[in-house]
Amino acid sequence: MSALQLDRIPHHVAVIMDGNGRWAEARGMSRSEGHRAGVDAVRKVVRAADALGIEWLTLYAFSSENWNRPKDEVATLMQLPEEYFEEELPEAIERGTRILSIGNHDRLPPGTRRTLEKAIERTQDGPKMRLVFALSYGGRGEIVEAARRLLRDHEQGRIDPESLDEKTFAAYLDEPDMPDVDLLIRTGGESRISNFLLWKAAYAEILISDRLWPDFERKDLEQAICDYQKRERRYGLTSAQVRSGSK
Ligand code: FPP
Repeated sequence: MSALQLDRIPHHVAVIMDGNGRWAEARGMSRSEGHRAGVDAVRKVVRAADALGIEWLTLYAFSSENWNRPKDEVATLMQLPEEYFEEELPEAIERGTRILSIGNHDRLPPGTRRTLEKAIERTQDGPKMRLVFALSYGGRGEIVEAARRLLRDHEQGRIDPESLDEKTFAAYLDEPDMPDVDLLIRTGGESRISNFLLWKAAYAEILISDRLWPDFERKDLEQAICDYQKRERRYGLTSAQVRSGSK
């Protein structure tokens, strides 16, 4: 691995944590056990991201489509945030991590929702890394919800359609302060976006890792960042324009 440049760490890293099921299957374990192993990987990667100085880390923990999975798997996936925050909240507070969440929280079981709200509230003054859990989240749903909020504001005369631009619209998304994604990592080897952060990942560099999520660790995150640092981000410009600093 070439050297990681600590002065060029991506501001916002987002992760599609895929491969828990395959990891479990390969060991003759249940899918739920795979998800539990996935939580251990979350712990490691969160600590590594914090140590590397990543400002925003967004983790796809449960998609709006995941509600269609078998009941017992959904029940485990809904229990995991409770167990995770129970254990990790004191350390998050100590580290100054601010926990946030995006997604349709109305669908979450009351216990999961309460734990999440407590974690968000107790860390709200955290000055360091923003750790965002996408829970019951879908990118299209987020955009539709933003449009709904916008229409309500329009009805109240608070927004002039002529003044609407990308920046104004983005302020209606679930977490208005969230910057664009710089690096989007998907583990488990498949090349799909799966309805994740459709708006914020518009210019993300995408890195597919063959590693199954429970096996993903600090060195894999560092490797992904190294690969990112070798890429040329062009935002629609030519290479020559990027090199001459037109952007
Ligand atoms: C996809 O793998 C993964 C999920 C649907 C859930 C991801 C959740 C975690 C890693 C734990 C979240 C932790 C907290 C603290 C909220 P898959 O089951 O589709 O894997 P497969 O493609 O191998 O079947």
